[in-house]
Amino acid sequence: VRPRVFVTRQLPGEALGRLGRHVDLRVWDDELPPSRDTLLAEAANAEGLVTLLTDRVDAPLLAAAPGLRAVSNVAVGYDNIDVPACTTRRIPVGNTPGVLTDTTADFAFALLMGLARRVAEADAYVRAGKWRTWSPTLLLGTDIHGATLGIVGLGAIGAAVARRARGFGMRVLYVGRKARPELEAELGVRRVDKAALLAESDIVSLHVPLSSETRHWLGNEELARMKPGALLVNTARGGVVDQAALIEALRDGRLGGAALDVMDPEPLPTDSPLMTLPNVLLAPHIASASHATRGRMASMAVDNLLAALDGRRPPHCVNPELFP
Ligand code: GLV
Ligand code: GLV
Repeated sequence: VRPRVFVTRQLPGEALGRLGRHVDLRVWDDELPPSRDTLLAEAANAEGLVTLLTDRVDAPLLAAAPGLRAVSNVAVGYDNIDVPACTTRRIPVGNTPGVLTDTTADFAFALLMGLARRVAEADAYVRAGKWRTWSPTLLLGTDIHGATLGIVGLGAIGAAVARRARGFGMRVLYVGRKARPELEAELGVRRVDKAALLAESDIVSLHVPLSSETRHWLGNEELARMKPGALLVNTARGGVVDQAALIEALRDGRLGGAALDVMDPEPLPTDSPLMTLPNVLLAPHIASASHATRGRMASMAVDNLLAALDGRRPPHCVNPELFP
């Protein structure tokens, strides 16, 4: 008999059609995620789950899902999943690294440029009929070329952002758990400590996964150490930033601006002060959202799930210790 699989949302491309040829497939067809109760009820009957970052896979869910043998997240990040709990249950967890690296770096750079050069404000200005003449002082921004970019986390995405920054004539610093001498040689980036990165960067861009070590990596103390007027770009996870502290720093003008693809919580409540601050550029968590990349992520998630259901190591497995 074919294994039962629950997928928490429709996915773009051919991947779910392919999955349906191998498993007994149920796909949640709503635009919004299944409720917690629905997810628990579906998981109770499932051997495989394909999840998104909106779906929490934790110990209570695993306890309600005795037949579960595989979890596949359609994302590179997996902070929505209690991986140690899955490992204890010997459930492989898959993710989708690599395919979204350049797409995400493109968007981080789009946010960086949009914030520095005030693209969204300029668009709103023209559409509102406010454009009356060419003005030497209209919508002045920050130069990108020649600026110092501080990259937090020089993993695949951080390195891809560094590569773009070099092309734009930026000076690039990074902090990271590991020194990356080969990237330092290739890209001319320099590893510094946290204090130096905060003090020297005109723009700080976050590229670390969310974990207990990175939660609120940027808080009050760190914001106070940033250059006056510096810009922040976040395409990582909202929880890496202490959002209340960020709002304060933006309000009192210590920070020049922030471009956020990720927030805490998501979706951002409509009454959040971030909604009305002028020096903020917001996007609804879309950094990996190109047609090609979202199709590849879905395909990779299906490959990971099918391998795990087959007792094989998923091509991209976040708890590979299950396959010594
Ligand atoms: C998106 O945020 C992802 O982790 O892939
Ligand atoms: C160059 O065009 C720049 O915007 O910095």
